[in-house]
Amino acid sequence: MAFRIKDNISWIGKIDWELRKFHGEEYSTHRGSSYNSYLVRDEKTALIDTVWGKFSGEFVENLKKEIPLEKINFVIANHAESDHSGALPELMRHIPDTPIYCTSNGLNSLKGHYHQNWNFKVMKTGDKLSLGSKELIFIEAPMLHWPDSMMSYLAGDNILFSNDAFGQHIASELMYNDLVDQAELFQEAIKYYANILTPFSMLVDRKIKEVVALNVPVDLICPSHGVIWRKDPLQIVNKYAQWAGNYAENQITIIYDTMWDGTRRMAEAIAKGATEADPTVTVKLFNIARSDKNDVITEVFKSKAILVGSPTINQGILSASAAILEEIKGLKFKNKKAAAFGSYGWSGESVKVISNRLTESGFQLLNDGIREKWNPSAESVENCIRFGKEVALDLK
Ligand code: FEO
Repeated sequence: MAFRIKDNISWIGKIDWELRKFHGEEYSTHRGSSYNSYLVRDEKTALIDTVWGKFSGEFVENLKKEIPLEKINFVIANHAESDHSGALPELMRHIPDTPIYCTSNGLNSLKGHYHQNWNFKVMKTGDKLSLGSKELIFIEAPMLHWPDSMMSYLAGDNILFSNDAFGQHIASELMYNDLVDQAELFQEAIKYYANILTPFSMLVDRKIKEVVALNVPVDLICPSHGVIWRKDPLQIVNKYAQWAGNYAENQITIIYDTMWDGTRRMAEAIAKGATEADPTVTVKLFNIARSDKNDVITEVFKSKAILVGSPTINQGILSASAAILEEIKGLKFKNKKAAAFGSYGWSGESVKVISNRLTESGFQLLNDGIREKWNPSAESVENCIRFGKEVALDLK
């Protein structure tokens, strides 16, 4: 499949309707994804990014229908991760001398992946590549989200090829932002940000300010996943600026695991108390052992506070609670509050273990947490309701 974005620009990519997990098994993609490659024609022709290696055969065949491969003068590798560079070996087998433009970190990553001495041209921010009447201007974007990440701006057509930034894991035959369901689009965009870019929010903020200061017109933002932003393209830039600034909605997310429903009953009583104390606050509960961890991370991202619960087992916590806490730690959330809870039978360490993990992860503890023995009694349930109320009032 290929389609024209403008007379001189074509999308040549792969819409992956089947994809349900990305980054190995790490990231859920309920709506599939796409790998977007762009062909820019002028007096010279540039190909921007490729697709995941498993689709390299069909990619190169589709590309041949658009242009004789030897007429591609430049390959731009904005990012070396395999979902965008994976078709390079197949492509370069046909055009081995064609220069590949990338950052210096991109060169290291591409060599590390493919062990080939292709004709690399290392670019820095502000470097330009003339295509004839128009030129590509390169913008390094280190750690958004790999050290090698780069964006390319096509002056004259006012198009930012942003690679992963501003992307979404969506498969759609409707490849423009104004044609797809807006709730789905922004759900996937925020999920992408929360799960991938959260640790780099300071760099996102800095890069957006740097690009805005260039004061160049942007008519289209063409990311490497999902739909192209053509209607009000800067809306996603503004969203990123908002998300990069210690983002939080009026939400409390309660994450727990449970063995015999004691910790679940505590979670539900805490939620009841929080809602009674502040009817305006959104409270969401997730049994983490039964929930998609990336969806839960997105809810954490949207929350001003999280409450994490587990019963005590072997003087520690259940493995699903431990796993989500590990994920949360790596994402380096800022300016969020938290507390722990859990039921226990004899030793009862879970609340302390969770509190310590939350503190290590940069969360400000609201209190010492709450633990209740065995199956919560009516009095224990009342304690949990009171706990929920206190949390909600503290957050008001
Ligand atoms: Fe879509 Fe970082 O690769």
